[in-house]
Amino acid sequence: MTIRILGISGSFRGRSGTTEAVSRALEGAASIDPEVETQLITLRGKTISPCLHCDACYRKRSLCILKDDFSEILDAMLKADGFIIGSPVYEMNYTPVLNALISRLRCTYLVYPGHFVRRVGAAIAVGGNRNGGQEMVLMNIQNFYNSNDIITCGGTFHSPGGACLYSPDGSYEGTMQDTKGLEASYSVGQRLAQTAALLKFGEAKYLEQGYNMIKTKGWYDVQS
Ligand SMILES: Cc1cc2nc3c(=O)[nH]c(=O)nc-3n(C[C@H](O)[C@H](O)[C@H](O)COP(=O)(O)O)c2cc1C
Repeated sequence: MTIRILGISGSFRGRSGTTEAVSRALEGAASIDPEVETQLITLRGKTISPCLHCDACYRKRSLCILKDDFSEILDAMLKADGFIIGSPVYEMNYTPVLNALISRLRCTYLVYPGHFVRRVGAAIAVGGNRNGGQEMVLMNIQNFYNSNDIITCGGTFHSPGGACLYSPDGSYEGTMQDTKGLEASYSVGQRLAQTAALLKFGEAKYLEQGYNMIKTKGWYDVQS
């Protein structure tokens, strides 16, 4: 059974420590089994408008009507069994371009309610300060997963919320010096892929045995 793990780097930079950390996590994911397929998407050079709250998706029950690079990323996300999202820390949060991507995903609830329920996600954060808000970024990425039915996955004992990295000068080279953070990224990727595989196999077995999946209510069915 193929397990698809999608890595997304929220850095806009060419030589990005975050992109490297996400790549290491994907290497960790691929290391657990030859049937794990990985894909890396970097938001560098992508044009992604934030959600404008035009409500066209809500009125038309459609995916987002804005035309830019979002749709190709959504396609990849819909196919993935697990996610590794990494971001540089910007003002103790994830980057504006990642924020824009996340805001646009809201409409998937309308078209594919419950699509992500057995998907799993992990988080990576890279900061220019040792304690510059990496854990806030991990938490916010996890909040995104929680808002979209995606199960969250931490790392090992030493990186419970995901991998945190520190670049003393904010450069790619600086991030490469953080060997512990890069090792944590690798092991987060392994754990994420393992969990994605267990969930995918588990779902198949569960359905085969005749158990019912709880049907996630669509946006229109839920009274808040
Ligand atoms: C606008 C901006 C805001 C930033 N804010 C923070 C911050 O709050 N905390 C921090 O640790 N680093 C901060 N940084 C530094 C970056 O997180 C750091 O340079 C990081 O290594 C960049 O990762 P990248 O190479 O993957 O782009 C900021 C950088 C920029 C450009």
